[in-house]
Amino acid sequence: MSESFIQGLFAERLGGSSFGKDTKIYKFEKIKRAKAAAMAADPSTEILDFGVGEPDAMAFPAVVKALQIECEKSENRGYADNGIPEFKAAAAEYMARVFGVKGLNPETEIIHSIGSKCALAMMPDAFINKGDAMLMTTPGYPVMATHTEWHGGVVVELPLLEKNAFLPDLKAISAADLKRTKLLYLNYPNNPTGASATAKFFEEVVEFAAANNIIVVHDAAYAALCHTGAPLSFLSTPGAMDVGVEIHSLSKAYNMTGWRIAFLAGNSKVIGAFAHVKDNYDSGQFKAIQKAGVQALATPEITEEISAKYKRRLTQMVEALKESGFNAVMPGGTFYLYVKAPVASGDGTKFGNAEEASEHLIRKAHISTVPWDNAGSYLRFSATFAAADRADEERVISELRVRLAGLGLKF
Ligand SMILES: Cc1ncc(COP(=O)(O)O)c(C=O)c1O
Repeated sequence: MSESFIQGLFAERLGGSSFGKDTKIYKFEKIKRAKAAAMAADPSTEILDFGVGEPDAMAFPAVVKALQIECEKSENRGYADNGIPEFKAAAAEYMARVFGVKGLNPETEIIHSIGSKCALAMMPDAFINKGDAMLMTTPGYPVMATHTEWHGGVVVELPLLEKNAFLPDLKAISAADLKRTKLLYLNYPNNPTGASATAKFFEEVVEFAAANNIIVVHDAAYAALCHTGAPLSFLSTPGAMDVGVEIHSLSKAYNMTGWRIAFLAGNSKVIGAFAHVKDNYDSGQFKAIQKAGVQALATPEITEEISAKYKRRLTQMVEALKESGFNAVMPGGTFYLYVKAPVASGDGTKFGNAEEASEHLIRKAHISTVPWDNAGSYLRFSATFAAADRADEERVISELRVRLAGLGLKF
């Protein structure tokens, strides 16, 4: 049968006529396949899933109840466009209460989005012309970089290295790259490294952005999940409101990944341009979800409870991993533990990179992790593994300890 004419019509940004023909197997597909193969080979052994990147628990009852009540009201049925005032006001209050960022104008300095992923996808529409660059920390959440490239822009990667506490070295960027750069993407506490930013680093960022005319987009998806010190907002840095915006999400902070609700706060010109772009993509999140979001934002104790659970699990995971030779240290925030990948196992298998180490862990010990080989070889263990209760949580972690010890890993 001749090939469909459709194959010739794909946009260049998707690979043109080659779209869908790529036979390379990507990381997450490899993990999925290795998991399936391990289960098929030994169905009776439980998979210890430290690979998941989202909460294992439900949204809290008061938030679920708010949605139940609000979705029955006729006033909430229609298009929400760029958002309801109640949600923006709640976001402004939340920023003041949790992060000490006071005086945000809900009208001009805050806007909701249907999750932070969409916001990151839309931001390049507002700023990136062909040939413009964005700075992207790597490893990292790639959505803004993908869309920059789709607009004909260039992505300049800033490696996150352990020796720099997983903060980018802004001084290492070439003058030529600085000249063409419009956007800087940062994410602290960071996925996957778990690192937190310091107030001093954010001060450097503001100075850097102002000196080079670069807009900062701080992805604060994990900002309230903080294990050392108080939660830190980029916007609390003097001058930050002049150079950038911050994106907060209810996904991880309130166990609401599927609900799709987030907000941007910060510079009014950036928010205004984003609002214009957004208005041309979607018609806003369901008002009942925004109103349930108001309930969540007014109850930051929920996040404190969630955060305490991750901290408890991460503390035990650090100990378990250390016993097997990993250089595990408690992350500043998030629910991720990022550790150097082993180079070999006791049975003589050598690992060329983290991907190979991760595959070995799943095949030989039914332990699922996410490998990163972007800036050194590391494995990410997530504290969102499934466990029925505290006793089960401890059982999973002691099982992890036993299985890792059995592998005889070398570093
Ligand atoms: C760093 C980072 N940013 C953004 C997101 C997306 O979050 P949301 O659910 O708000 O779209 C994730 C999700 O994993 C993430 O890890």
